[in-house]
Amino acid sequence: MTLSEIGPVVLVGAGKMGLAMARGWIAGGLPPDQLVLIDPKPLEATTAFAAAHNLRLLESPIGILTHVLVLAVKPQIIKEVMAEVQPAVGAQTLVLSIAAGISIKTISESLSTERVVRAMPNTPAQIGKGISCAVGFRITETDSKVADALLRAAGDVIWFETEDKLDAVTAVSGSGPAYVFYLVEALAMAAMRQGLDTGQAMRLARQTVIGAAGLMEADSQPASVLRENVTSPKGTTYAALQVLMGPQGLEDLMDRAVTAARERSEELGRA
Ligand SMILES: NC(=O)c1ccc[n+]([C@@H]2O[C@H](COP(=O)([O-])OP(=O)(O)OC[C@H]3O[C@@H](n4cnc5c(N)ncnc54)[C@H](OP(=O)(O)O)[C@@H]3O)[C@@H](O)[C@H]2O)c1
Repeated sequence: MTLSEIGPVVLVGAGKMGLAMARGWIAGGLPPDQLVLIDPKPLEATTAFAAAHNLRLLESPIGILTHVLVLAVKPQIIKEVMAEVQPAVGAQTLVLSIAAGISIKTISESLSTERVVRAMPNTPAQIGKGISCAVGFRITETDSKVADALLRAAGDVIWFETEDKLDAVTAVSGSGPAYVFYLVEALAMAAMRQGLDTGQAMRLARQTVIGAAGLMEADSQPASVLRENVTSPKGTTYAALQVLMGPQGLEDLMDRAVTAARERSEELGRA
């Protein structure tokens, strides 16, 4: 299924993630007349994007009965938004939700529909290098192809059989880009403590993470192998890794961080 065969798509919530996905769809061949953006207070970037591609940007989907409804609003307001957009959902509508923590059951009941895909993308979607995890409920084969094509425009897609792992996925890949940005900050702070000035420290830390990510992209070997390849016995990297991999090292810290994010995702789902 290609994006040119899909539509009409109504995107509810054209904020950071919704806009990133919409950019991917248009770049990937979704005809602009097949995309409607719904956002009562759009970002400047959203208004500019809509104008550049001649997209309809509306405050609400009143009067539209859509084939695909994508929900990309904050979990905190999703219930009111679903009540508002329910009239746009009919028997022919596939609902794709990317709201963290909101279950398929909640979406399905609020929109009186059975055909729901719940997915969790992440922000590298903005450059087509994201990863999404998706779960479908009572969807047809065509529905899963449609959802897959929409999510794939933002990067890789992994399909799950059930949604019980999605809170964990949110905590790993959904929130994960922020952990990597913080890694850059922490590495830069360590560099400053070693006497480098702020500019040098930021540049070294940032480019090191960009370079390492690029190496990983170019080489499909596991990260552990790439790490071992640059760790000579008793060398400098080895000395640092003894600390990072020691008791209460990075693995323990990451474990606690991911657990906190997973618990928050579960909490949001219950709210
Ligand atoms: N950002 C991420 O890394 C990420 C990753 C995975 C999943 N998600 C999920 O994606 C969803 C959106 O996140 P985001 O970061 O893109 O949030 P966001 O930037 O706040 O985008 C949500 C947009 O929806 C708009 N909105 C509010 N009420 C609306 C309504 N009644 N109808 C239509 N649009 C409405 C918001 O406008 P106002 O700002 O005026 O309220 C905002 O522009 C969340 O559920 C989040 O869990 C985000």
